[in-house]
Amino acid sequence: MTRAFNFSAGPAALPAEVLARAAEEMLDWHGAGMSVMEMSHRGKEFMSILAQAQADLRELLAVPENYRILFMQGGALAENALIPMNLLGARADGQRTADYVVTGSWSVKSQKEARKYCEVNIAASTEDEKFTRLPSMAEWKLSKDPAYVHICTNETIHGVEYFWTPDLAAAGLPDTPLVADVSSHILSRPMDVSKFGVMYGGAQKNIGPSGLTVVIVRDDLLGRALPITPSAFDWKIVAENDSMYNTPPTYAIYIAGLVFQWIKRQGGLAAMEAQNKAKAELLYGYLDGSDFYRTSVAADCRSRMNVPFFLHDDALNETFLAGARERGLLQLKGHKSVGGMRASIYNAMPLAGVQALVDYLREFERSHG
Ligand SMILES: Cc1ncc(COP(=O)(O)O)c(C=O)c1O
Repeated sequence: MTRAFNFSAGPAALPAEVLARAAEEMLDWHGAGMSVMEMSHRGKEFMSILAQAQADLRELLAVPENYRILFMQGGALAENALIPMNLLGARADGQRTADYVVTGSWSVKSQKEARKYCEVNIAASTEDEKFTRLPSMAEWKLSKDPAYVHICTNETIHGVEYFWTPDLAAAGLPDTPLVADVSSHILSRPMDVSKFGVMYGGAQKNIGPSGLTVVIVRDDLLGRALPITPSAFDWKIVAENDSMYNTPPTYAIYIAGLVFQWIKRQGGLAAMEAQNKAKAELLYGYLDGSDFYRTSVAADCRSRMNVPFFLHDDALNETFLAGARERGLLQLKGHKSVGGMRASIYNAMPLAGVQALVDYLREFERSHG
């Protein structure tokens, strides 16, 4: 068996240890005589898996007591609709404006979906600069009293990451919740959950398989849903039923639980951050030192998870990718909207994988430069 180095943006590589454990437990989970996939979600076996996964995620991210962790379905794109649905209902004044900071393809999608449910104010956008930097808060034009402010803290396609957390209180909006799409960098480093009203993300990068959506929401934001919100997607109902209002994605939750335990064994999020920094420095360091390759994102917001880069001559792209595949370096093709290459180096990518990529970048440069 050969495990290649898989640079996919998502669904992405999972730790081999986790997959091996799932394989061992596939036919008979802990003597239950059945696979996790075959268990009632309300039976004691699965209830214990769910409770452990929630507890481990709470511990890893240091989620405060007054936040609920919801395991949902529909992915981050469904949440783009569910956020306005869940946050716009409680305003006696009928306020229906939400602010969006647009920093890449994913936040473009978020604000577009929200327009179906509310007025959207684009507080800032870097679209004119092809999403190569983050606008500072001094540049944001927030509306007077928005229902919430939405950001995407790691733009998976454009490779732009926030290394700071916007302070809405300092901007004169102390009661406005900050809502963040954290899909592609959750669990890559410690984050201060208390600075956010809502964090949400699809699981298929650092958490586990697709099919599971994680929503971390502050208690006081529950119960604000618009009447049109489907019950299965009303955060308050999901929270009251401990993510069991309807059948949750049981197998994806089980794998996520194994990933959380794997992260704990690595030393938690501080250890993940050290490893992710080392990987990003190795890769950006090589790209910066070369005239053959280039990157386009400003140095202070270059994503540690998703690294878009370009060959100096696009005509070499297919040859580059074919050579990479031959060496077991997979899924390096950039997103079609950006072009070039993209290396996604999530938690499960070892330093050895990034080293193998850098060795190949050097070799390719020597033979084609
Ligand atoms: C930052 C971000 N937001 C949203 C999405 C869309 O998520 P999903 O496909 O789970 O709906 C993705 C991509 O997978 C993403 O990277």
